[in-house]
Amino acid sequence: MVSNRLKVKVVTLGNSGVGKTSIILRMDGHAFVPKIDVSVGASFIIVRSKHNERDVMLEIWDTAGQERFRSIIPAYSRNARVAMLVYDITSLDSYNEIPALLRTLQRGPSSDTLQLFFLIANKVDLQHARVVSREMGEKLANEIGAVYFETSAKDGTEIHNVVSKITELAVQTFGKEDPGLQNLILKEDPNPEKKKRSCCNT
Ligand code: GTP
Repeated sequence: MVSNRLKVKVVTLGNSGVGKTSIILRMDGHAFVPKIDVSVGASFIIVRSKHNERDVMLEIWDTAGQERFRSIIPAYSRNARVAMLVYDITSLDSYNEIPALLRTLQRGPSSDTLQLFFLIANKVDLQHARVVSREMGEKLANEIGAVYFETSAKDGTEIHNVVSKITELAVQTFGKEDPGLQNLILKEDPNPEKKKRSCCNT
């Protein structure tokens, strides 16, 4: 029997410390962790979602934000259909880096499959330290053709709405594809490297 479930690979990019791992853990139903080890390589989680009675399996990839891992991004982005580009509203550098990260994706093997882009302005709970305005975020999103969200992995603001929007647009954009193509796309993923995720409450 052919499965009616839509499988979609989502790749998450952004500078180190912007909150990629924290957002993805929230999407997976975990509580906020105040201190997380820096990501190494890449790993993914599966988030199951639904839109208009269609089951959707989001394979959400977390990539390491440190500059030294930049060269491996294209390999881990292979066959991605959706990109989440994340910056931290308290870091102008992380905002300024988004176009370069996008170029890295567009030069890589996912350039043929990527169709949906999300620009995520994270850490909106830190309004007192904000240096990147909503207007700047919306302007950049408009320039790169991305859907814009302001999130906080800390208090959960908009995290579930991001998942809902990705699911909705994925069903609209890829929902009529042959399930055989879907399987082919996910089967080619490289093995994830082991990633450190621990916390300490001290
Ligand atoms: P790399 O693994 O180095 O690429 O970083 P990352 O982008 O995955 O960031 P990570 O999720 O590890 O978060 C970095 C730090 O920011 C951690 O101390 C988090 O607890 C904190 N953090 C993440 N999201 C938020 C948020 O929305 N608000 C606040 N206040 N802190 C956050």
